[in-house]
Amino acid sequence: MPELSDRDFHNFCQLVYQHAGIHLSPQKKELVRARLSKILRLRGLSEFQDYYELVRRDQSGVELVQLLDAISTNQTAFWREPGHFVFLGQEVLPAWRSRNRQGRRWRLWSAGCSSGEEAYSLAMVLLDGLSAAELTGVKILATDLNTQVLAQAQRGIYPLARLEPLPVEWRRRFFQKGVNQWEGYVRVKPEIRSLVQFRRLNFMEPFQFGENFDIIFCRNVMIYFDKNTQAELVHKFYQCLNPGGYLFIGHSESLCSITHNFNYVKPTIYRK
Ligand SMILES: C[S@@+](CC[C@H](N)C(=O)[O-])C[C@H]1O[C@@H](n2cnc3c(N)ncnc32)[C@H](O)[C@@H]1O
Repeated sequence: MPELSDRDFHNFCQLVYQHAGIHLSPQKKELVRARLSKILRLRGLSEFQDYYELVRRDQSGVELVQLLDAISTNQTAFWREPGHFVFLGQEVLPAWRSRNRQGRRWRLWSAGCSSGEEAYSLAMVLLDGLSAAELTGVKILATDLNTQVLAQAQRGIYPLARLEPLPVEWRRRFFQKGVNQWEGYVRVKPEIRSLVQFRRLNFMEPFQFGENFDIIFCRNVMIYFDKNTQAELVHKFYQCLNPGGYLFIGHSESLCSITHNFNYVKPTIYRK
């Protein structure tokens, strides 16, 4: 692996921060070196400096997208931090149902969805808790910066072992088992898949939507951002939530040290 000088590391940190808001601490130097070395090899380059110049000069933006794909951390799981899904199923859905006489539409956003497990877990809670008629008004948008994890999410195919955190009955109900060359894999069933729309969205770029959301899950994403970036993003989330809508953040995250307009519901759950 080529050496990554402090200067090159600094340059990549600046670029990544500027375009994705991701703050890379000095402890991440080795990780960055390992992740970018693969791209250097693919491009036939021997120096990080040459790769940095390539990204900076590339007018198409393709190189930058690939750099950000390599840098972003995408760890996720089905049913991760289950308390949020339980809260949704037991507190939010019953309240929606009792108010939903005029067939109102419900919009959910898995913001920073990685390979789709969070969005599909949301879809399972909805399928479990709502009638077929109620489901016609429900849509989940799932977005991420990383094009590679989004492609995985779109496919909806996972190794069987990834289903372990899910309730046993749901594994059977919502997944098809692969056969032959797909032995050991599962695919989300079309009824789940059809509730979710995936697309690339970078939080650092302006975004707006035709309709506001009722639920935003943005979990284990803001830990990569500094306080200013977190505060700006939380403000944007507030703007695109309906009154009474909820924001869920990761269990290692908090809005304590930033200024915001949300009402605190309980740890990691906030309401507009
Ligand atoms: C650790 S994963 C969290 C996945 C899921 N929300 C969960 O809690 O399991 C963080 C995700 O945030 C995405 N991300 C990081 N910076 C982003 C940005 N500027 N815009 C959009 N997504 C971003 C990453 O690509 C990654 O998939």
